[in-house]
Amino acid sequence: MNAIANVVNALRGRGREPRPASKTEIELKQRAVKFDWKQTPIDWLPNEPFSSYFINEINLILPEGEFWFCRLYNKALPMITDEKLREDVRGFIKQEAMHARGHNTATDEYLAQRGINPERNRAVMKHLFNVILDDKPFGKTLPKWAEKQWLLARLGLIATIEHLTCVLGMYALENKEWDKLGADPVLLDLIRWHGAEEVEHRSVAFDLYQHLGGSYFSRYYMTLLVFPMIFGIWVDGAANLMSQDQRLAKHKPAFYKPWVWVNWFKESRRGLLPSPLWLAYRTLPYFSPWYDPSHEGSTELAAEYLTRSPAAKAATSVAAAAHGGKRHSAPQAVTMA
Ligand SMILES: [Fe+2]
Ligand SMILES: [Fe+2]
Repeated sequence: MNAIANVVNALRGRGREPRPASKTEIELKQRAVKFDWKQTPIDWLPNEPFSSYFINEINLILPEGEFWFCRLYNKALPMITDEKLREDVRGFIKQEAMHARGHNTATDEYLAQRGINPERNRAVMKHLFNVILDDKPFGKTLPKWAEKQWLLARLGLIATIEHLTCVLGMYALENKEWDKLGADPVLLDLIRWHGAEEVEHRSVAFDLYQHLGGSYFSRYYMTLLVFPMIFGIWVDGAANLMSQDQRLAKHKPAFYKPWVWVNWFKESRRGLLPSPLWLAYRTLPYFSPWYDPSHEGSTELAAEYLTRSPAAKAATSVAAAAHGGKRHSAPQAVTMA
């Protein structure tokens, strides 16, 4: 009977110990990074066009979503009653805004400069976040009573996505095959700097969702919907990039054709990509009523990378120079409510 009571309490979000509003133990800070894309080849993994494009699609998927996170979190800020969580959310907004800018430079100054047209994939993401998931979905004004529920549902969506970005962040930090192949150091640093900050702030979205009353059941069903959707968008976008490269265009890459999926499995067996089955497996903890994002990644590993990331180190020195009263050109933090 006790076991049943424990399960019921967990589903209702009631444990023996009250969960603190914030499980983030560090202060989240924005690192004003910059990347120089002049030397980065289209095969940033040398002679591995499939895996290079597959990872490069991340540059197109993320920015619209991250700017959308920032807009929603600015809306949620006044509803937060815990001071530490409010600070976490402010740090989260600053970090996500910088991630979006970093990936946008990769698209504009690298992919587009190498003859890859990013606009179709960008348009898909803009439609998803600026039309379907907007405050006014498909331009329709919601009734007042539904506004808070719509916000909460979307905060749940962010928490689900953030579980995946933490898993992917750990994958990027732990991957050794990319280094063995001689991966381009700039793109590798972009991915690992971003991955490390995803690991750093992995608890914030879940904490905020819980704090504002998000339920276990809605996150359970949301996860069933969201994970296949993310994989579908990723494969579809990567196929579109590959179809623009003559070396791969002969396969007519497309979401609905086995070629992309078969090669995703093949390359993941070589350690160049996270396998879809492994990603599905790493999703399972999120279905647990006892899920706790602080158990999903290593803050120490993230911190260790950030001490040697060229972009993060340069950003730190910019901040240090600014404290010394010198002029600097760091991008401004995103505006917050
Ligand atoms: Fe991010
Ligand atoms: Fe994130």
